[in-house]
Amino acid sequence: MGKVIVVTSGKGGVGKTTSTAALGAALAQRNEKVVVVDFDVGLRNLDLVMGAERRVVYDMINVIQGEAKLTQALIRDKRLETLFLLPASQTRDKDCLTAEGVERVVNELKTHFDWVICDSPAGIERGATLAMRHADIAVIVTNPEVSSVRDSDRIIGLLDAKTEKAERGERIEKHLLLTRYDVTRAERGDMLKVDDVLEILSIPLLGIIPESMDVLRASNLGAPVTLADQNSAPARAYFEAVRRLSGEVLPVTVPGEKRGLFGKIFGRRAA
Ligand SMILES: Nc1ncnc2c1ncn2[C@@H]1O[C@H](COP(=O)(O)OP(=O)(O)OP(=O)(O)O)[C@@H](O)[C@H]1O
Ligand SMILES: [Mg+2]
Repeated sequence: MGKVIVVTSGKGGVGKTTSTAALGAALAQRNEKVVVVDFDVGLRNLDLVMGAERRVVYDMINVIQGEAKLTQALIRDKRLETLFLLPASQTRDKDCLTAEGVERVVNELKTHFDWVICDSPAGIERGATLAMRHADIAVIVTNPEVSSVRDSDRIIGLLDAKTEKAERGERIEKHLLLTRYDVTRAERGDMLKVDDVLEILSIPLLGIIPESMDVLRASNLGAPVTLADQNSAPARAYFEAVRRLSGEVLPVTVPGEKRGLFGKIFGRRAA
C-alpha cells in the first residue's frame, strides 16, 4: 500500500502546487511510483506546472461520477515513466467532489502507487479538509512571514482533528517545508528567521526552499524544478526534502547562508 501525503498550508500562493510537483518528480526520479493529485477544483494549475495541460481529457470528478475510469484520467509524465497526474476539474461545481468519491479514488490510487501526493487548495474549508482526510503524512508549506505561519498553525489544528488518522486516535506525521526563503531579507529582519518559524509551529523541518527565479523559469517551461534544473538551489533543496521523507536523517542547510557560521542545523527539530 502506498503512502498518502497532503501538501497543505491554509494561506494561498505559498508554493503548495510548486512543491507537490517538485516532490512528486523528485520521488519519481528515485524510481518510486508516484501520482500527484490536484484537489484545487476550479483553479487547477498542477497540470500547468507539470506541463500536461493540453493532455487533460478526464479529471477526478469524472472518475467520481463514473464517467471515466481512473486509468483513463491518469496522465503519465512525458519525462518520467513512474510519475502520473490526476487532474482537477476546471469547470465543475466544487460539491461534485464528494467525501465518498474522494475516499474511493484515494484508496484505489494507494493500491497502484508508492506515493499519492495531494495538492490542497488554499483555505481551511471543505476542499482543504477533503485533501487532507486520508493522508498519512502532511507537508505544511509555509513562507517566512507572520500570516503564513499563523495559517499553518490553524492547518496543524485541522490535521489533528479532521483526518482519518486523528479520528482513529493516531497521530498524523507532520513536516514543515519552509519555502520562498530569502536569507538576506531574513537577516535584515524583513522576514522571519528559520528558528522563529520553528519555535511557533513546533514540527520537524523537512527542508528550506530558497526564493529563486529558477522556480519561475521551471514553471514557465512546464516542468517541476527538480527536472527543469536539477542543480539549481531549489531543486537541491527538494531532493534533500525527499530523502528526509524517505527516512534519511540529514543536516538541514539554510540556502544562501555561509556554512560554518550558523548555516547548518543538524537534524533540527523544534521541541
Ligand atoms: N521558491 C520559490 N521561489 C520563487 N517563486 C516561487 C517559489 N515557490 C513558489 N513560487 C511562486 O509563487 C507562486 C505561487 O506558487 P504556487 O502556485 O505553487 O502556490 P500555491 O500555494 O499552490 O497557491 P494556491 O494557494 O493558489 O494554490 C507561483 O508563481 C510560483 O512560481
Ligand atoms: Mg496551488
